[in-house]
Amino acid sequence: MKRGSPGPRDIYPGCVGLWNDQVFPRVMDRVLRTPEVNARRAEVCQGLHGRVLEIGFGTGLNLRHYPSEVTEILVVEPSKSAMRLAEPRKAAVPASVEHVGIDGARLDLPDGSVDCVLSTYTLCTIPDGNAALREIHRVLKPDGALHFLEHGRAPTESVRRWQHRLHPVHSRIAGGCHLDRPIDEMITHAGFLIRQLETGYGDGPRPFSYLYRGRALPSG
Ligand SMILES: C[S@@+](CC[C@H](N)C(=O)[O-])C[C@H]1O[C@@H](n2cnc3c(N)ncnc32)[C@H](O)[C@@H]1O
Repeated sequence: MKRGSPGPRDIYPGCVGLWNDQVFPRVMDRVLRTPEVNARRAEVCQGLHGRVLEIGFGTGLNLRHYPSEVTEILVVEPSKSAMRLAEPRKAAVPASVEHVGIDGARLDLPDGSVDCVLSTYTLCTIPDGNAALREIHRVLKPDGALHFLEHGRAPTESVRRWQHRLHPVHSRIAGGCHLDRPIDEMITHAGFLIRQLETGYGDGPRPFSYLYRGRALPSG
C-alpha cells in the first residue's frame, strides 16, 4: 500500500482491537449463513453477469450463489481476517476473484467499467454509505445494475425507536453497523432508479431484521 494511503483502520473505524479484527468476522460468517439468509443471497445474485463488483465482500458468502454468466469478480473489503476466511470459497468458484480495494466510498475503478454491483448487508456498515452509492453509480455501465440485500430502517415507529436506542451499543460491537439507514432513499438519492424492491421483516429481532432486497439501475 502506498505511503499516505488510507488503511483499514482509517476507513473503517470499527476495525480496531481483537474483537473487530479477529472475532467479529468469524461471528459475521456464522450469523450470515443461515438457511434463510442463504436463500436471500441466492435470490439477489440471480441475473448477475459479466464483470461484477462486490462491495463489502466479507468472508465470500455470496460466491457460491454467483451464476455461471459471471466471468470476473472484483471485491472491495477492508478486513484482512475476512479476506483470509474467504480463501477456500474463492478457490471453489470458476470466475477470477480480485481484491481491488478497501473502501466502497473510494473505488479505484474507471467510470462505467462494471456490469453489475452486488452489496449484501454492507450499506449499513460503510461509514459514508451515500458516498459509496455515488461511487457504485459512477463505476456501473449505463445498462448495468446494482443488486442489493440490506437491512435498515423499519417502517414501524416503535421498532424505529428501538433501532435508535440500540444503535450506540450495536455499532460498537458490530463493526460500525447502523440499524436505521433508509436504504431505498439512499439508493434513490445517489441517482438510481429502483426497478425491484421487496421489503419486510426477516427472521430475528425486528430492530435488526427489516430487509430491503432489489435491483436498481443507474438512471442518470
Ligand atoms: C455485515 S458484513 C457483510 C459481509 C458480506 N457482504 C456478507 O453479506 O456476508 C459488512 C462488511 O462490510 C465491510 N466494510 C466495512 N467498511 C467498509 C467500507 N468502507 N467499504 C467496503 N466494505 C466495508 C466489513 O469489513 C464487512 O465485511
